Amino acid sequence: MNLVNTPVVDPTLDVVEEIKRLRKEKNAVILAHYYQAGEIQDIADFVGDSLDLSRKAAETDADVIVFCGVRFMAEVAKILSPEKTVVLPDLEAGCSLEDSCPPDEFEKFVKANPDHLVLSYINCSAAVKAHTDIIVTSSNAESIVSQIPEDQKIIFAPDRHLGGYLSRKLGRDMLLWQGTCMVHELFSEKELIKLKAKHPNAPVAAHPECPDQIVQHADHVGSTSSILKFVTEHETDTMIIATEPGIIHQMEKAAPHKTFIGAPGADGNCNCNICPYMALNTMDKLYLCLRDLGPEINLDEETRIKAEKPLRRMLEMSPTFAPQPPKENL
Ligand code: 13P
Ligand code: SF4
Repeated sequence: MNLVNTPVVDPTLDVVEEIKRLRKEKNAVILAHYYQAGEIQDIADFVGDSLDLSRKAAETDADVIVFCGVRFMAEVAKILSPEKTVVLPDLEAGCSLEDSCPPDEFEKFVKANPDHLVLSYINCSAAVKAHTDIIVTSSNAESIVSQIPEDQKIIFAPDRHLGGYLSRKLGRDMLLWQGTCMVHELFSEKELIKLKAKHPNAPVAAHPECPDQIVQHADHVGSTSSILKFVTEHETDTMIIATEPGIIHQMEKAAPHKTFIGAPGADGNCNCNICPYMALNTMDKLYLCLRDLGPEINLDEETRIKAEKPLRRMLEMSPTFAPQPPKENL
């Protein structure tokens, strides 16, 4: 049994009240990604996409950042705010995109292509960031690639689907690392076509981590924030959502009269599209990590300094207009 993932919390404790009390006592800010459980999103100070959360982590004056997301996101917070204590409710909260890009192999790949500018999706380890020129997220990738001179050769890692989408949309040939997100990879085109036949007027909103055969059916492709903005502003009442279903929580809060249907996996339902890493964070673990200020994110300083450079470049090159401001809960 994995004791790390099964914390024991006194069942008589009011965990919500304890989290609120400890947040004040420790001058902590709770940042949450849209793929977190609804109750975690509801207690967070800010909920947003990867870019929103990076900006919040860079500018917060809290002493402690509690990152309710996955490990690479908490690492970004530590890289940008090294003087803060950064904690993650479950240190096992990894990411299949990060796993698909081992730093040693990536370093060799970069060295073998010295005339290429290296762009990496933020979903990678700090060690991979350290071998990168510019980091991108799904909400600024298009704008950042467009700012690079047309004759500049580009490596894009680790997500081959986001890289392929950018390459097709912007007409840029890019050398792609062959990683994928195990969650977005599982949407089924066949089941999506069946669902669209049942709801012919429902627009499809898809994340660019989806394979091309899913993206081709989408009326809107973009980051979690941009999907949220699209579906809440669209005049239609029923929408099909091809990304991790955690985001439907914010959609239902923003537009309670609308129906949001998760795009199906191969078995015809969308349960296989719940990110198992994001799901490791729970309210009990959030409470414990605030109480104990751990598990803490610590990075080797040389790697942190090298990884900070491409992240700062990303922040400088990002459009100042964010598609959807992060939701502030306080
Ligand atoms: P965004 O929230 O930046 O769109 O990214 C989604 C994601 O991959 C989180 O793991
Ligand atoms: Fe990684 Fe995919 Fe989970 Fe996002 S949804 S954390 S990309 S495995």
